[in-house]
Amino acid sequence: MCGIVGYVGHRNALDVVMGGLRRLEYRGYDSGGVALPDPSTGRIAWAKKAGKLANLDGVLAETTMPETTTGIGHTRWATHGAPNDRNAHPHLSEDGRLAVVHNGIIENFAVLRAELEAAGHELLSETDTEVVVHLLSDELQRTPALDDAVRAVCQRLEGAFTLVFTDARQPDVVVGARRNSPLVVGRGDGENFLGSDVSAFIEFTREAVELGQDQVVAITRDSMTVTDFDGAPAETTSYHVDWDVSAAEKGGYDWFMLKEIDEQPQAVAETLLGRYGRSGRLQLDEMRLSDDELRDVDKIIIIACGTASYAGLVAKYAIEHWTRIPCEVELASEFRYRDPIIDRSTLVVAISQSGETMDTLMAIRYARQQRARVLSICNTNGSTIPRESDAVIYTHAGPEVAVASTKGFLSQIVACYLLGLYLAQVRGVKYGDEIDAIMAALEKLPAGIQRMLDEGEQVRKLAAELVDTRSVLFLGRHVGYPVALEGALKLKELAYLHAEGFAAGELKHGPIALIEDGIPVFVVVPPKARDQLQEKIVSNIQEIRARGALTIVLAEDGDDDVVPYADHLIRLPKVPTLLQPLVATVPLQIFACELAGLLGHDVDQPRNLAKSVTVE
Ligand code: AGP
Repeated sequence: MCGIVGYVGHRNALDVVMGGLRRLEYRGYDSGGVALPDPSTGRIAWAKKAGKLANLDGVLAETTMPETTTGIGHTRWATHGAPNDRNAHPHLSEDGRLAVVHNGIIENFAVLRAELEAAGHELLSETDTEVVVHLLSDELQRTPALDDAVRAVCQRLEGAFTLVFTDARQPDVVVGARRNSPLVVGRGDGENFLGSDVSAFIEFTREAVELGQDQVVAITRDSMTVTDFDGAPAETTSYHVDWDVSAAEKGGYDWFMLKEIDEQPQAVAETLLGRYGRSGRLQLDEMRLSDDELRDVDKIIIIACGTASYAGLVAKYAIEHWTRIPCEVELASEFRYRDPIIDRSTLVVAISQSGETMDTLMAIRYARQQRARVLSICNTNGSTIPRESDAVIYTHAGPEVAVASTKGFLSQIVACYLLGLYLAQVRGVKYGDEIDAIMAALEKLPAGIQRMLDEGEQVRKLAAELVDTRSVLFLGRHVGYPVALEGALKLKELAYLHAEGFAAGELKHGPIALIEDGIPVFVVVPPKARDQLQEKIVSNIQEIRARGALTIVLAEDGDDDVVPYADHLIRLPKVPTLLQPLVATVPLQIFACELAGLLGHDVDQPRNLAKSVTVE
C-alpha cells in the first residue's frame, strides 16, 4: 500500500506534492520521491531517497528543483524489490522524459521485463513498476497523446495497480490509471489533484471524484477527463469530503484498526496475487531455497509471538495435512531455551508482521547456528528477520499501523497456506488439480471476509450488550482452537479484559469450573464436514449452557444443530475446514475493537503495548 500524489495547477508543485506525501506517509515509508516535468529541458527533474520522507527532504535541500506547477510523488511500501534508493519511485524512461509512480502489483511484470530487455531496454531497478514507464516510452512513439498512450499500456498489464504519469513534453497534464487499487481526484479552482486517498489534497479542496475499475483520468489545471481503458467516456462519482485531516489519514475511520479490519479482503487478495500462475503452478517470488533443499526437509518448526504464533497454529493443521511433514509451533521466547532438536533438515518458519520482533529474531539466529534452514513470513519488506532468513514469503497487507494485528494475521495465515501448498507441489504429494481446487477456494475468501464485514453490525450490538462484562471465554476445536486463542488475545490487548481461549475438548479437564451464570462464551464451530468434531463441540455448547453460560456461537450457514443452544448465532460462509479461520476471526476482531471503543480505550495504541516488540 503506497502513497501517491499528482498535481496540476497554479501553486508550486513541489510544495503541494511533498505536503500530500507527508499526509500519506502512513501508507508506506520505505522510500519517497518526486518528479517534476521541466519544460525548459524537456526532461523530468526528480529526487528520491530510501527511508522516511525526512530523508527525501534532506536530498531536496541539496538539489535545485525547477519551479513548476505540475508534479507527482510517491511514498513506498515495498512489495517487489528491497526498500533502497534504486527501487524508490518515481521510475523514469531511459530518455528522462517520462516518470511513473505506482501502488499495487504488476502480476505479469517478469514477462514484460524480458520482452523489454530483449528489445534493448535497460532497466535499473528490481521493481515491477519500472516496466510500465518503458512500455509507455515505446507507446508514445506511436501514440503522441499521453492519455491515449497510457490506455494502450494499461491493456497489457495484469494485477492490481494505481499508476500516475507525467511527461516533460506534455507538462500541462498528469494522467492516472487504476485497477483494484485506489485513486481519487481532487477538484480545485484552477488546479486539480490525484491521490491514493483524499488526505493527499484535503487542505486545498474537499471536492473529490472517486474513480472506478479500469479507468484512466487526465487532469489539467482546468479539466478532468475520465475514460475506460478503451477510451470510452466513463461514469464517475463526485462527493464532498467532510473529514478533518487527521480523520482523512484514517480514511474517515475513527481508528486505524477499524480501517485495517476493513482492508482484510484486499490484504488477502494481494497476498495471493501473482503467486499462482496460469501454468497452474505456485511461484513464490523470494523462495531462495531450492526444490532439493525443500525436498530434504523432514521437520518444520514454526516460531513466532502473540498473534503471529496463532497464525502458525492454524498453519500447522494445513501444512501437516497437505505435506505430511511433521510441523511444530513454538513461542519464539521459549524456543531457544529448551534445547530443541534441530538440524540441517529442519525448516524453521518465522512469522512476523514487523520483521523486527526481538524474540523471533534471536530464535532464528539460534536456529541458523544449529544449521537449520530459515524461511520467514513477513509484512515488512527489508526488515531484519527476512534479511537474516534463507527465504521469505512477503505478505502484501500494506502497513499495519494499529498495535493489534488484524490484516497482518489473516495475510500471515494465507502466506502459510501458500508455503504448505508450495511444499506439497515441490514434494509431489499434491497433484496440480488438488492445488488448483484449494487455490480456487482461497481466491474466493476475500468475498467471504467481506460478508463478515458487511454483517458486522450484529457483533457491534453484542459488544454494547456485554460492555460491562469482566470475563469472556473462547472455545474452538481443530483450526477453530487458534481462532479462539486469537479472539481472547484481541480482547485482552484492546479491552483489558480477562479473556481465555481453550480447546473445547479441554473444558472437562478443568476450565469448565470457570463457567458461571451469564459468562459470555464464544464458540467457533467447525464446518459440518468435520462431523465428528461438530457433534462434540455441540455437546460442549450444551454443557456450558446448562451451567448458565451465555453462548455466542459462530457456525457455518445451514448448520442448524447448534441453533437450540446458541443465545447468539453468528453465521459464517461455508468454506473448506482448513480455511475457516479467515472468516471466523473477523467477528472476534470486530467485537474486541467495538468493546474497546465503548470502554473509551485508545484502540490503536492500547496501554503497555508497542507495535513491534524490539526487546526480549
Ligand atoms: C497482536 O495483536 C499483538 N500486537 C502481538 O501479539 C504481535 O502479534 C506480536 O508481538 C508479534 O509481532 P510481529 O508479528 O511483528 O512479530
